[in-house]
Amino acid sequence: MKVAIVGASGAVGQEFLRVLDERNFPMDELILFGSSRSAGHVYNFRGKQITVKELKHNDDFKGIDVAFVSAGAGTSREFAETITKFGTVMIDNSSAFRMDNDIPLVVPEVNPEDALNRPCGIIANPNCTTIQMVVALKAIENLSHIKRVQVSTYQAASGAGATAMAELVKQYEQILKGEEPTVEKFAYQLAYNVIPHVDVFLENGYTKEEMKMYNETRKIMHSDIEVSATCVRVPVMRAHSEATWIETERPVSVEEARKAFAEAEGVVLQDEPAKKDYPMPLFIAGKDPVYVGRIRKDLTNPNGLTFWTVSDQIKKGAALNAVQIAEYLIKVKNIG
Ligand SMILES: NC(=O)c1ccc[n+]([C@@H]2O[C@H](COP(=O)([O-])OP(=O)(O)OC[C@H]3O[C@@H](n4cnc5c(N)ncnc54)[C@H](OP(=O)(O)O)[C@@H]3O)[C@@H](O)[C@H]2O)c1
Repeated sequence: MKVAIVGASGAVGQEFLRVLDERNFPMDELILFGSSRSAGHVYNFRGKQITVKELKHNDDFKGIDVAFVSAGAGTSREFAETITKFGTVMIDNSSAFRMDNDIPLVVPEVNPEDALNRPCGIIANPNCTTIQMVVALKAIENLSHIKRVQVSTYQAASGAGATAMAELVKQYEQILKGEEPTVEKFAYQLAYNVIPHVDVFLENGYTKEEMKMYNETRKIMHSDIEVSATCVRVPVMRAHSEATWIETERPVSVEEARKAFAEAEGVVLQDEPAKKDYPMPLFIAGKDPVYVGRIRKDLTNPNGLTFWTVSDQIKKGAALNAVQIAEYLIKVKNIG
């Protein structure tokens, strides 16, 4: 098994190195790619020094079984043909192909078999906010069809990449020194602030991030589910949180929901409010599952339920989900 990571120097790329090692992903060789900025940098993987190659339009992907690509949508679009032309399976973390009809959009806990039908050799990894939501929704969908969802996200700085994490740290340092904080990655200062603006605004007043939650959820769940989202950037370093309200076809009790979450694949139930036990990003950064807590009946709707989820969006929301897709393909003998 020959594996490539494209965008190895980035927040997600670095997480790929950790996840592949942590899960003992079966491979004979790992090849790292980046732009001219990181080409030549050396990373250590399982005791071996690997030098980043510059991604170019050549035959470098010949013989590579799977490429984990996290270098932005423009790079994915530009290099998809180069990456897949010799049969490499491209698992793409960007938004480039997610809504394309002939490209599956996969969360292994929800729709793993969709990954088997990939006419272009590309499998898309969903948006990080969507991944954690659908893992939780699946548990309830198994009890009663979910008709609609309202969700507010609390998204960590690292969702905007490695430089955004650095900017948040720098802003706190600058403010403590009495200096004007540098604002480059976000629309406003994020330190001591929350910003109701993730990705660009669209004509309908929603942001692209909010519409990703609407469209991608329907595609992954093969459902007519409707999702209305408000996506907010918060000064958290890592792990996104989401407050979610759902309406099901029949009323689902809190007890039923708790049992379903407790038994669901990829979910950890953390819901003992009397003991101040609920999920928080500070404690969930670096972990694999989606944590669910604060489960309550919606006071405004007899068929409504509300809950709180937290998950590490660089891990389950990106690198881990992609590696789990590859693990599924290996398990069903579809690659390798
Ligand atoms: N951060 C998250 O939580 C998250 C979650 C889900 C999905 N994603 C998606 O994953 C992708 C990467 O995000 P990130 O947060 O890791 O960003 P990042 O920290 O800014 O890293 C970007 C990576 O892309 C590489 N790159 C950029 N242009 C390239 C080119 N022309 N050729 C080769 N490599 C190139 C960079 O390499 P150089 O250093 O060489 O420029 C770097 O390794 C994005 O599409 C993002 O939407 C991110």
